[in-house]
Amino acid sequence: MRNMLVTGGAGFIGSNFIRHALVYTHINKLVNLDLLTYAGSLSNLAGLETDPRYQFVQADIRSRELVQNLLLEHQIDTLVHFAAETHVDRSIRQPEIFIESNVLGTFQLLEAARQAWDGSFSGKRFHHVSTDEVYGTLAAGEPSFSETTPYNPRSPYSASKAGSDHCVRAYFHTYGLPVTISNCSNNYGPYQYPEKFIPVIILNCLMGEIIPVYGDGRQIRDWIYVEDHCRGILRILEDGQPGETYNLGGGNQPSNLEVLEQICAIMDRKRPGSPHVPHHNLLRFVIDRPGHDRRYAMDCRKINAALGWQPEENLASGLEKTVDWYLDHMDWLLAVARDEKYRTWIQTQYKEES
Ligand code: NAD
Ligand code: DAU
Repeated sequence: MRNMLVTGGAGFIGSNFIRHALVYTHINKLVNLDLLTYAGSLSNLAGLETDPRYQFVQADIRSRELVQNLLLEHQIDTLVHFAAETHVDRSIRQPEIFIESNVLGTFQLLEAARQAWDGSFSGKRFHHVSTDEVYGTLAAGEPSFSETTPYNPRSPYSASKAGSDHCVRAYFHTYGLPVTISNCSNNYGPYQYPEKFIPVIILNCLMGEIIPVYGDGRQIRDWIYVEDHCRGILRILEDGQPGETYNLGGGNQPSNLEVLEQICAIMDRKRPGSPHVPHHNLLRFVIDRPGHDRRYAMDCRKINAALGWQPEENLASGLEKTVDWYLDHMDWLLAVARDEKYRTWIQTQYKEES
């Protein structure tokens, strides 16, 4: 029975993870610490308020003393760290908060855990959730990223995640803190904030807005359904080795244009009476993202061999589920889309093209 502290649990992957963990693992207590930035919302956790094992704390991961007190008060043995600034385009416009939250925030958490656990590390685990973007970009035909691929981050976001990964590893080697790290590829699924590509496509199909495609649209991502990522993290918590890193990916490597075509085809099928059919006519090529990574692909042989993990969802089945979820949760989607903060972001990011 674990006492777990989850950071960033009101965001996309964190909220999916909390729902998953409460069902699939033995949890005595789960404390969710989240600052509720623009990307976090308690509506992502609706229904959990009545679960006696679950508790929410609104706070910043940079508040070391507060975190340390939480670890002691709730006798936390397992910390799963999702909290971060996560959108590459925002990191290009406003890099500073990425260094603050992702690098300094992770450092403060590490210090809080080191001091609260005070050398009694048996049965403890600090799991850090990271990204494939730390490895940089691949040209066509280059081998996939493995756990030994040298770091080569190219955006302020990926540089800040790389910095946090280095800090986490340093705490293992220097202090013996029992850490594990997962580097995962692009997630998609329920509760993803519609600043990221897949929910942008779905929302804009529904609203009849243009779907902005950066550059030539031939960039490649390794898309993983969020539930597969959550299962992978639980396997690492169960049987992963302290000090180890595990890569996770979906085994799907379509271009952005292919992703767009697949989603538009699903929308055509599910909304045949929409005035926006065929939805792919909403596509507009827009100015490219600076430093845009061309291709990501993950080599997942290590986690497969060591922990028996592999993704269960393929892209077609995962996209179908994802579109269904957004269509069934229009209230959630429209609440975000009508929010002033979201409108401001869309205006700022895409204004050159409107
Ligand atoms: P998200 O942007 O949806 O959510 C981030 C959450 O962190 C929000 O709830 C936000 O309020 C919270 N947060 C931000 N700064 C905070 C702070 N200083 N203190 C406390 N809470 C804070 O992010 P996501 O897409 O769910 O990503 C979660 C984690 O997974 C991140 O660490 C990200 O780097 C990593 N990751 C994401 C992907 C992906 O495709 N989305 C892939 C691999 C790894
Ligand atoms: O690879 C893992 C990473 O995936 C995570 O670490 C990040 O937190 C997450 O944001 C994501 O980063 P990407 O930049 O790959 O995701 P995004 O959804 O922003 O973009 C996916 C691709 O689609 C990318 O090539 C850029 C392109 N794109 C994106 C948007 C928002 C467009 O063409 N148009 C858009 O409007």
